[in-house]
Amino acid sequence: MTYHQAKEYLQSISQEQILRFWDDLGEAERASLLQQIEDTDFSVLENFYHREKLDGGGHTEPIQGLRLADIRARREEFASVGRAALRAGKVGAVLLAGGQGTRLGFDGPKGAFNIGVSKPLYIFEQQVKNLLEVVRDVGAFVPLYIMTSDLNHDATVNFWQAHDYFSYPAEYVRFFKQEMAPAVDGQGKVLLAEKGSLALSPNGNGGWLSSMRRSGLLQDVAARGIEWLNAYAVDNVLQRIADPVFLGATIVSGCNCGAKVVCKSDPHERVGVLCLQDGKPNIIEYYEMSEEMAKQRDERGDLAYLYGVILNYLFNVPKALSVLDKKIPVHVVEKKVPYVDERGEKVTPAAPNAFKFETLILDMVRLMDTCLPFEVEREREFAPVKNAVGTDSVETARALLQKNGVCL
Ligand code: UTP
Repeated sequence: MTYHQAKEYLQSISQEQILRFWDDLGEAERASLLQQIEDTDFSVLENFYHREKLDGGGHTEPIQGLRLADIRARREEFASVGRAALRAGKVGAVLLAGGQGTRLGFDGPKGAFNIGVSKPLYIFEQQVKNLLEVVRDVGAFVPLYIMTSDLNHDATVNFWQAHDYFSYPAEYVRFFKQEMAPAVDGQGKVLLAEKGSLALSPNGNGGWLSSMRRSGLLQDVAARGIEWLNAYAVDNVLQRIADPVFLGATIVSGCNCGAKVVCKSDPHERVGVLCLQDGKPNIIEYYEMSEEMAKQRDERGDLAYLYGVILNYLFNVPKALSVLDKKIPVHVVEKKVPYVDERGEKVTPAAPNAFKFETLILDMVRLMDTCLPFEVEREREFAPVKNAVGTDSVETARALLQKNGVCL
């Protein structure tokens, strides 16, 4: 792409401010900016102007799930189906670790955060310990695919190498990068991170499977005969990965996907809720729920929209591949994004100043047609580290780890 082509194109989408500092740039910076413009998918910017239309409407109703008592009663049956699948090598794990963790404010990949007190215990390490319990139980390693982004890839890979993969065999660990998307200001104008480079952010956790395809990892999945992928968030230190009972229950249910859920603790808890929309599983965000829906009760007196998702999903691989090219919504999320202002000065905002474009894994669930909500005990499996202090923070996660017998 030449300067003139870039200028013409950016004018056509009202983003010519991107070339504002062209005259200040050296040859190499100019070439790299042109390359970035060429590589960036600016079509996501259209979503800035129709943010409210994501929900898609349709008839919403509660979904039936497996409650703790149901699971307890059939635990052995589910566990034996799950263990057999694990022993046969049919299961892979996908760690979603491409996020920026801006709320935690830690300078490094979130998984490299030290949650320990008297000795180091990194989030990655704790999750590997959880996975190793399953490995020991079934006697087979689970291939682990780790999603990173341009912003944390090298730091993540180096961290794993420096810690000898936390005793997991390196041949079972693969890293892949997700895509980036431009961030815009309140007027929808793309921000610059430097005079000669765009402010790009990871494009959400919804593109993990297509990023695996782009990285060539689906060949690895096929070669290993993997039929189920367990995708999970980096920030839950009680995350149970490749859980044989969850796996077995999902396989026995005949569903194409399974979602670990916790029962909402109050009608207004800020979690996405699994429900049915026009007969298909769907996750609605807490802010998309009407007051009436949030408070609705079923005949047992439980909240009708009960199941909060904890970002631990099982996906049937053939089904997920069959819908891989279907479009999922792009969410516009307000975040803090450092940028260069019109005078060329760097600004590090203290409050959210920009909008990022993200696709979300929860929108993949709908495409899977069927999904099993699988209840887990909140205190045993859900300790998210989102914030430095307060709710879902380092403190609350530490307390929950200790409650579960982890020595900090
Ligand atoms: P969050 O929604 O908590 O986003 O991610 P975040 O970017 O990590 O954190 P904040 O909002 O800036 O504080 C939930 C999970 O999805 C992953 C995260 O790494 C985490 O495991 N994720 C998020 C990605 O892998 N890629 C993304 O682009 C965003």
